[in-house]
Amino acid sequence: MKILEEQIQNCNRCGLCHGRRKAVLGEGTIESPLVFVGEAPGRKEDEIGRPFVGSAGRLFDGLLGQVGLGRGDVYITNMVKCRPPKNRRPRSDEINACSQHLDEQLDAIAPAVIAPMGNSATRHFQRKFGLERLRIGEVHGEKFRVSVSWGQAFLFPLYHPAAVLYNRTLELELRRDLESMMALVR
Ligand code: URA
Repeated sequence: MKILEEQIQNCNRCGLCHGRRKAVLGEGTIESPLVFVGEAPGRKEDEIGRPFVGSAGRLFDGLLGQVGLGRGDVYITNMVKCRPPKNRRPRSDEINACSQHLDEQLDAIAPAVIAPMGNSATRHFQRKFGLERLRIGEVHGEKFRVSVSWGQAFLFPLYHPAAVLYNRTLELELRRDLESMMALVR
């Protein structure tokens, strides 16, 4: 992870490097059987260099707490390590350019469950694993067995915490999905 941290801070594989203050590798324990993957750093993450430190992150921390987890128990990262301008969605060329960093992270952690949060991270993994392209509303909380370099794992899509901020009715669904996900690693 130290080497990866150095690589992403110096990375210039896509244009997002020009606007970043800090690239955001991710945080948590590499012993975790769970890896959460968001979309991209926002303004606060870019400033501080940590993932999910804004309002969506606070909401997510609260939900993690409700299922008995803290930041130190899991690993949280994003598909793209540098903030897109004005928090726009990362483009597919940027996602592709950054995917090697994500793959290396996942290889190092070798989790039992990869949990993409939201449509764009879910779509990335559906493409990578040759799964049907279904929207998050249809696949959240479902497990998909996938072959990975370290053996087998589950892909377990979740609603993005920012979506919950806009639609509080999704909060209960995200919490229920987190509980089902916990059953996979108990
Ligand atoms: N903060 C992150 O680090 N990632 C997101 O996807 C959203 C907010």
